[in-house]
Amino acid sequence: MYNNFNQTSVYKKLKDKYESIKNTSIKSLFEEDTNRANNFSIKEQGILLDYSKNILDKESLALLCEMLESLNLKEKIEKQFKGEKINISEDRAVLHTALRDRTSSSILFEGKNIIPDIKAELEKMKKISNEILSGKWRGVTDKKIKNIVNIGIGGSDLGPYMAYEALKNFKNKDIELYFVSNIDGTHLKEVLKRIALDETLFIISSKSFTTIETLNNAESAKKAFIKKFPQENAVAKHFMAISTNYEKVLEFGIKEDNILTFWDWVGGRFSLCSSIGFSLMISIGYENFIKMLEGFHSIDNHFRTQNFEKNIPVLMALITFWYNNFFSFNSQAIIPYEQYLHRFPAYLQQMDMESNGKSIDKQGKEINYKTGPVIWGEPGTNGQHAFFQLLHQGTHTIPVDFIATIKEIHGIQKHKDILLSNLLAQAKALAFGRENITQENTLPAYKTFKGNKPSNILLFDELNPFTLGQLIAIYEHKIFVLGVLWDINSFDQWGVQLGKEVATEILPVIQGKLSKSFDSSTDLVLKNIKENLND
Ligand code: F6P
Repeated sequence: MYNNFNQTSVYKKLKDKYESIKNTSIKSLFEEDTNRANNFSIKEQGILLDYSKNILDKESLALLCEMLESLNLKEKIEKQFKGEKINISEDRAVLHTALRDRTSSSILFEGKNIIPDIKAELEKMKKISNEILSGKWRGVTDKKIKNIVNIGIGGSDLGPYMAYEALKNFKNKDIELYFVSNIDGTHLKEVLKRIALDETLFIISSKSFTTIETLNNAESAKKAFIKKFPQENAVAKHFMAISTNYEKVLEFGIKEDNILTFWDWVGGRFSLCSSIGFSLMISIGYENFIKMLEGFHSIDNHFRTQNFEKNIPVLMALITFWYNNFFSFNSQAIIPYEQYLHRFPAYLQQMDMESNGKSIDKQGKEINYKTGPVIWGEPGTNGQHAFFQLLHQGTHTIPVDFIATIKEIHGIQKHKDILLSNLLAQAKALAFGRENITQENTLPAYKTFKGNKPSNILLFDELNPFTLGQLIAIYEHKIFVLGVLWDINSFDQWGVQLGKEVATEILPVIQGKLSKSFDSSTDLVLKNIKENLND
């Protein structure tokens, strides 16, 4: 059994294949195969994945799939879905897929069926969100709740925030959501300026309930609240928590009835389907939240059962792997041509880069190949007027995922037509470019486009809770497949620890409680900060 891709026997064949195809243009691949678009696209679960504009042929794809066979991908997928502790460094299972499985009556974790607990928590979310929306939940001055402030960071912010933005068209009009994540006091203060406290419910979201940003924002919000409403029951009526750490939540002063929980086997960046999605449920309602879970589940099933050649997350992972590890294209742009998805690239940055930004393999050895690429992006068409210049004529080749929805939902079809024609134009121009000789004249070099810039198009009928769930699940599973190819643990995040520890050492020095010297650069900046603070 092989651990990673470069131990497999098919790796040598793929290297040879790369040598023979690396100078082939996308244009010539289209010329050779007039049916290329059909041959290199799939329509599964209502989603079209057109991956024809890649430097890829049937042989390279077959070899890439063979590599996944050699690495026992199917078996590894089953291990994840069946709750084996595949997050070895934290000794945890990775079972976020169970949160959206509404058809299985039993999923075992350590011999215990977890489905009843998942259902019970969903019921509690439903009950409380209905109380809030119906006005049954009253604040300290007997007013209805009109504002929800989710205080959390990373996975306890990015998912609900992204999905809230993505599903604004499904939003309950009577309630506004705000998200406070940054420890920069500006974030909290600017939200506090806009809300009436006695009409606000603060939801403190933190898996660990030890995250410094979240705890300090929560403390400051509580302080501001108590200052204005010192009544005994004020906190009970205006603060909830979502966490796996009951003890810490109770210590903070939130009563047990106001705690929603989830489990150790749900990673922070995969937690949107758990009670971490509670603020989203308040916004879109329980029924829509369930539709989102069903969308996730449709892709979970597709990923688990479909052949590699017709499997959306698998194909997308193989294409990224092909570019990252053979072509050395180590950056990937995610461009949604759908304004509602404007936070999707930011959300995906955590999901992908915190998962696959690793350099130690599962055997504990340093890796000698490239792992997770840099993920970034902005919505189209905005990006076209910003960084697309570099995508077209720069010296880097950056594969693009174009994400689009077809249906116009605001009755302004002309806008949608322009949007989608731009999406198609960009993918086409990137792939095929423009030569410097046209029939009429010779163009100056700066007006030429070499083309040969790869992209995928992921096309959905419309954006709704179900398709949003599908979209997220596609990328979750893509990340998993890449983790298998690279033999890394995609489910821990030790790389975020050092900065946290150093900040803890520096804080008392900034606060003047301790005098300590660090490196000369840190000392220089500290000196400037302290001089300014003392002015
Ligand atoms: O700092 C990284 C991280 O641990 C993320 O993985 C996580 O999503 C985030 O912090 C927030 O953690 P918590 O939900 O425990 O506050």
